[in-house]
Amino acid sequence: MPNFSVSDDVFVRAAEQFPTPFHLYDEAGIRRTARTLNAAFAWAPHFQEYFAVKALPNPHILRIFREEGCGADCSSECELLLAEMAGFSGEEIMFSANAMPPEEFDHARRLNAVINLDDISDIDLLLAHGGIPEVVCVRYNPGGEFHLGNAIMGSPGESKYGWTKEQLPIGLKRLKELGVKGFGLHAFLASNTTDNSYYPRLAGILFDLGAEMEKACGLPLRFVNLSGGVGIPYRPEEKEADIAAIGEGVRQEYVRVFGANASVGIKTELGRYMTGPHGWLLTHAVHEKNIYKHYIGVDACASNLIRPAMYGAYHHIHICGKRNAPADHVYDVTGCLCENNDKFAVDRKLPKVEKGDLLVIHDTGAHGFAMGYQYNGRLRSAEVLYTQDGSFRLIRRAETPEDYFATLL
Ligand code: LLP
Repeated sequence: MPNFSVSDDVFVRAAEQFPTPFHLYDEAGIRRTARTLNAAFAWAPHFQEYFAVKALPNPHILRIFREEGCGADCSSECELLLAEMAGFSGEEIMFSANAMPPEEFDHARRLNAVINLDDISDIDLLLAHGGIPEVVCVRYNPGGEFHLGNAIMGSPGESKYGWTKEQLPIGLKRLKELGVKGFGLHAFLASNTTDNSYYPRLAGILFDLGAEMEKACGLPLRFVNLSGGVGIPYRPEEKEADIAAIGEGVRQEYVRVFGANASVGIKTELGRYMTGPHGWLLTHAVHEKNIYKHYIGVDACASNLIRPAMYGAYHHIHICGKRNAPADHVYDVTGCLCENNDKFAVDRKLPKVEKGDLLVIHDTGAHGFAMGYQYNGRLRSAEVLYTQDGSFRLIRRAETPEDYFATLL
């Protein structure tokens, strides 16, 4: 079930204060999720959630995570700059990038960030760009298909990320010769899964493999990085992931492989799970069009949230003041781009929508604003924080035509 913990009164007040469209983020909700996650992994030595900056790249949000004891997972130079801006340094930063310009290693090393190597060839790049630190994390790709029970959760064999199993001992021995004293092991094998067995299964694979590599290379395993992937219920019929059960499942695997008193650390790089449900895109209905289908045109478009257009992703929509009205109309809810996939919903049952209604598009707190773009000369929206004290703070202004023209020579 999508997140209905914030009342319509809050959305209406926010839309009175700021012109739509904009993304609204709930600070209290974000903090609650960070605390729940930290509690679920309180048993683990050196537990650290590195919030995936790509999901919601705003320093105001990053500062909230910092206050909650989280770190930042960065995948580019700009994300490193954002993390710095939010006050993160050293081991509070994980640099998990792939096929990036090698100079970004220089930057990450200057910050003393933990480096996660996507490929065995990155060893030479790192050597030339910032040097090899004492602890290096490596990203594993098991190939083939990844199953949970009967379900195929992903196709690592088709994915560009990570090292093969055969490459691991070769690269780890090389790293040892270069002075590395310990390693981390990372993998990301399923995206947006609310299946509580995903992290435990992944943890089991990485714990077993880490122990095997430790023996094969004589290099101690310092931590396992479970990366992101824990999902959220975008659809009304979907269940939330049970993070306490997930933490306990990982603990059981930990005890199975290392025993109860080991010191191997656990890291995560969750993005969607942390902020997804705590963000909403607020937009007004501005057009109604009836041809072969019924269309509601809103003042947001795919520039503000591309997931439905790009993946056919479902985002729940409700109309302020009509939460309990019967959904007895069927609409496509569209933006204004000259692209027929610029639709937030297709054949969606909703109560009757009037021009001027405030629509709330759910679960835009991760991979929402972040994936914005400017096609058709449409600009990125503002971001507003609904603070713990119940007020609204503009944490990013909307783009203006001046921003659009700023890069032209
Ligand atoms: N760590 C790494 C190295 C990643 O590449 C990602 C996401 C994460 C962590 C965070 O994953 P999360 O917990 O948010 O699933 N744009 C897509 C999602 C792409 C995710 C890419 N990497 C979407 O909107 O569904």
